[in-house]
Amino acid sequence: MSSNPSDQELYTPEIQNDTSLLQARQRSKEFRVAVIPGDGIGREVAPSAVTVLRTVGRHFDIQFDFQTYDWGAEYYLQHGRMMPADALDVLRSADAILLGAVGHPEVPDHVTLNGLLLEIRRAFDQYVNLRPAVLYAGVESPLRRARNGEIDLVIVRENTEGEYAQVGGFVHEPTPAELAIQAAVFTRYGIERVMRFSFELALERNEKRRVTSITKSNAQGYSMVLWDRIFNEIKALYPQVETESILVDAAAMKLIQRPESFDVIVASNLFGDILSDVAAAVTGSIGLAPSGNIDPLRRFPSMFEPVHGSAPDIAGRGIANPLAAIMAAAMMLRHLEKREGAEAIEKAVEQLLGEQRVRTPDLGGNSSMDAVVDEVIQILDMKNISSSV
Ligand code: NAD
Ligand code: IPM
Ligand code: MN
Repeated sequence: MSSNPSDQELYTPEIQNDTSLLQARQRSKEFRVAVIPGDGIGREVAPSAVTVLRTVGRHFDIQFDFQTYDWGAEYYLQHGRMMPADALDVLRSADAILLGAVGHPEVPDHVTLNGLLLEIRRAFDQYVNLRPAVLYAGVESPLRRARNGEIDLVIVRENTEGEYAQVGGFVHEPTPAELAIQAAVFTRYGIERVMRFSFELALERNEKRRVTSITKSNAQGYSMVLWDRIFNEIKALYPQVETESILVDAAAMKLIQRPESFDVIVASNLFGDILSDVAAAVTGSIGLAPSGNIDPLRRFPSMFEPVHGSAPDIAGRGIANPLAAIMAAAMMLRHLEKREGAEAIEKAVEQLLGEQRVRTPDLGGNSSMDAVVDEVIQILDMKNISSSV
């Protein structure tokens, strides 16, 4: 990981001390939010989330200072990099980051993603990637037997190391002897902290109190063996939490066969990535799946984004589902300890889905993205008027 200069500065005391900012802002009630719309439908859904946040801000007296950064593939095509050299310094002073999505058909994905999204996750040590998946009332699951309200799980994805450590290289390219090495990096430090977070989350989330660890130690005889060993150590500290360990291939199957049995799922970076798309699909649409890249120690800004990508197949048509980005904004408010605002958004989205009236095509409707955003705002406005009467 030493190939990334931003990693080296991670644990310096100077940066660690620089965290009273959030508390100061919470007192003054102004939150500086860095918005990176990115590419494709990211440029559509991120502004939708900002519009909803402004509405919530008005109703709950939360002041935002939104700074929008036009970084991404277009920026890359002009400047040869995804974001400016001082981007991390610029972002560091924000209270939170709201990201649309990144990825462009004309720029290789490993360039766009390692130049922005993955770099931010690593540099700001956002070691938990929280990905809830809920089957809301009014939403149809592709699973025949799925009942609304019964699927309610959260994936805790390790977000800074594992298969995404970006350690490796090419040799002998481009010859018939060329080879690539992609090393996975699993540290006790990295595994332990994400396991502890998962068990703590299971204690506070609901009465299921269940943690499922995703493994592949039958084939990955070092990294996943360490993963299992640490899971066993941590679970011994939480006797009140029920646990299971499932191989990732079986887990993909069980997420489809019995999704309602899961509560907290803890997984490595790659396994968590793959399973979160499965979880999004069984709960109706990836257009509903939010995610938070969180630094639980609050040394750095956390970053909130939809699970989905830039969806070039529907970009520019105004039909992207904005609800994943809007629910990510609710996660952001919760992280900023603005629980009332977060709940208002969640309730508005639940009401909209329950009414089954205004929905984008991914949910079987024919509404535009703007119509969905307008409806969310209308519900928020109505609720606020009625609660103040
Ligand atoms: P994707 O998530 O962009 O799209 C997968 C499918 O889901 C597509 O058919 C798309 O139309 C649909 N979809 C996604 N979001 C939707 C929404 N809000 N409403 C309705 N339908 C939606 O994944 P992909 O096609 O594999 O990747 C496209 C690009 O995005 C690639 O460059 C990829 O690397 C990138 N990507 C970025 C992120 C991110 O920035 N966080 C995440 C995933 C993929
Ligand atoms: C996600 C995405 C990213 C990931 C890609 C775009 C690098 O798929 O956030 O789920 O794999 O983390
Ligand atoms: Mn993904």
